[in-house]
Amino acid sequence: MANLEELLLSRIRDVADYPEPGVMFKDITPLLADPAAFTALTDAFAAIAERTGATKVVGLEARGFILGAPVAVRAGLGFIPVRKAGKLPGATLGQAYDLEYGSAEIEVHAEDLSADDRVLIVDDVLATGGTAEASIRLIHRAGAEVAGVAVLMELSFLDGRARLEAALRGAPLESLLTV
Ligand code: PRP
Ligand code: MG
Repeated sequence: MANLEELLLSRIRDVADYPEPGVMFKDITPLLADPAAFTALTDAFAAIAERTGATKVVGLEARGFILGAPVAVRAGLGFIPVRKAGKLPGATLGQAYDLEYGSAEIEVHAEDLSADDRVLIVDDVLATGGTAEASIRLIHRAGAEVAGVAVLMELSFLDGRARLEAALRGAPLESLLTV
């Protein structure tokens, strides 16, 4: 596992003052461009899907799509996109959540999830936990169970983990890197 962490860390670029002054952006594009690192990441997420008994993989727009879709294929599971509001054409369920300034809403096609499903939520970063918490609520409201939340990076100083605790109802939050 130490080797996996080293490999992943070595392919994440810190970009200072992006998108605004004072923020250190974690750029995953070098990782995506390296087939060995991207494959190792996909395999690690797929192992979590297997261990948690997931039946579906949900990816959170946009970076969660890039990371989650190959996990679904590798694990032999269906992929379900949770999109920013207004992008899905069918009947949707929506969940609003607070941002630092203002609010946002995410949606899922209601027909994509059923009471038989156990969902692994995949995203790149857990920061404040607002996005992940809203996606957990959305999945529960669709009648499905949450098998777990899997992220590449957890920004522990923002304490998103505490924010998710109640919503997770005992399901695991798995982060491959804690920074
Ligand atoms: C980023 C990141 C996570 C989310 C984490 O997404 O990819 O999805 O923020 O922040 P939180 O834990 O405070 O909610 P963002 O919507 O900024 O960009 P993206 O569309 O490129 O994924
Ligand atoms: Mg995102």
